[in-house]
Amino acid sequence: MKIPKTFRSKMAKITIIGAGNVGSQVAFCTALKNLGDVVLLDITDGLAKGKALDILSSMPIAKRDIKIIGTESYDDTKDSDIVIITAGVVRKPGMSRDNLIKTNAKIMSSIIPQILEHSPNSILIIVSNPLDAMVQLAYKLSGFPKERVMGMAGVLDSSRFRTFIAEELNVSVKDIETWVLGGHGDLMVPLIHHSKVKDQALSKIMDEEKLNEVIKRVQNGGSEIVQLLKTGSAFFAPGIATVDMIESILKDEKRILPSTVLLEGEYGVNGLFVGAPARLGRKGVEEVIEFELTDKEKEMFQKSVEHIKSLIEKI
Ligand code: LAC
Repeated sequence: MKIPKTFRSKMAKITIIGAGNVGSQVAFCTALKNLGDVVLLDITDGLAKGKALDILSSMPIAKRDIKIIGTESYDDTKDSDIVIITAGVVRKPGMSRDNLIKTNAKIMSSIIPQILEHSPNSILIIVSNPLDAMVQLAYKLSGFPKERVMGMAGVLDSSRFRTFIAEELNVSVKDIETWVLGGHGDLMVPLIHHSKVKDQALSKIMDEEKLNEVIKRVQNGGSEIVQLLKTGSAFFAPGIATVDMIESILKDEKRILPSTVLLEGEYGVNGLFVGAPARLGRKGVEEVIEFELTDKEKEMFQKSVEHIKSLIEKI
């Protein structure tokens, strides 16, 4: 199915750069939720076309009339409303996300000029790792206003937090609210005082040792999967987490989701992209919400920020 360059239906146009595991999962979930017309792009010949055709062929079963194409050409991405960047190498067991910085910075530098040329008014969601540094780089290279550049990490990390709490306490994931802020690495900051099962504070219903175990597991959630897979990293949860953000933006839901956003004074940080609660709507990042943190959480947040700063110097 062709989506012409000038194609403008009432649906939003969603471009996903990178048809690897994460990009394909974003495309599949976006299609399932019927959030817009999807363009999946990859420079590897046939990869995006093959994945797009596979997704398209599943839509009759899902009872969805959607438009999705795979392509190697940025011409097909013209006038996208939202662009998701998932391209880049992923880590192998024993590697940290930070080890990917040089290669993925190069890839990011080749993608952003194409977005600028073809979709200068789009909203960017960065998923490639190391996430915090890649968002910062995309912002710098694009020159987009801060509202239109963000990264996906907190929704994923918070979902892992909910998963492990549900397992531990034998409660429904639907009753759990969690927040993970800071950078997307071992120093991420799961907030205990803002995380609850219904109205019950976690610290009241979980003993401290168990809670600390869960927190460690959340912080190493990505690595645990890399170790198990041996060749690749997580993609189901990262994919649907990204789609949660896309949905809030395109439907102008204005949900408050933990997102990697430019802080300008909030949380005592200036001029750096860090994970924080943000209201996501049709304009992109519409507001950064400041939670009250405990002294310990503030200290953890600061450490995470320092790490992001040191990482950015390596680009
Ligand atoms: C993870 C990768 C996507 O946390 O960063 O699984």
